[in-house]
Amino acid sequence: MKFNQSTRFLKDELAGCLEKVRECSVLFKEEDIKNYEVRELLENMEKRLDNYISKMDNLIQFDDEKYTIVQFLNEVLKMEYNGILDYTMYASLVKDPALASDLKKFGASEGMHALLVADMIKNLGGVPQFNPPKYRREKRLSVLEMLEEHKRGEVEAVELLERGMKRFSDPEFQYFIGKIRLDEQEHLKEVERLMKEYKELHAIIEVKDYRWRDDYAGDEKDRPWIE
Ligand SMILES: [Fe+2]
Ligand SMILES: [Fe+2]
Repeated sequence: MKFNQSTRFLKDELAGCLEKVRECSVLFKEEDIKNYEVRELLENMEKRLDNYISKMDNLIQFDDEKYTIVQFLNEVLKMEYNGILDYTMYASLVKDPALASDLKKFGASEGMHALLVADMIKNLGGVPQFNPPKYRREKRLSVLEMLEEHKRGEVEAVELLERGMKRFSDPEFQYFIGKIRLDEQEHLKEVERLMKEYKELHAIIEVKDYRWRDDYAGDEKDRPWIE
């Protein structure tokens, strides 16, 4: 946002300069000055300033919308990463192979979404933010409770994507987000199906504390490649 504010300020300053140049050109004529170099200089300045201002006008309007879309997409990216981590983590913890395979499939689908969203952010000139996942506390839960967690995650995903579709009317964006929303709606249906299928399963899943940790690399100060 700071950038947009500064560019707006710069554009206003340039517009002020252009006004001054035009004022000088009028006086140049009125006072019948015979210096042709000065006349050429004023004409060049007027053309260039005019050109800069109209270019900035287009870019600033565009940037405002793009900036907000990038912010939104980074929010989506964060959600996808949480999905990747949760599905993958639970897939490795549940004993039932069919359930583990379904959870892995969801995780892979969220991974594909994360790639697409990161690409879209880059195409818009933004920087994908790879936020670390939410911190998870140690817990014990049933398969049904685990699936309920996923259900909440999928409902949140659909709601977030729908908020984006309401806010941004760009057709390319609508198509892009609309496709991801369809996948999330499909995940939601599948998770609900699994909830029915496994409601009698009383197995307990144990989740260990986890957060991003790099045991191999140690602290930043111990890393020889970081100056
Ligand atoms: Fe997703
Ligand atoms: Fe999903």
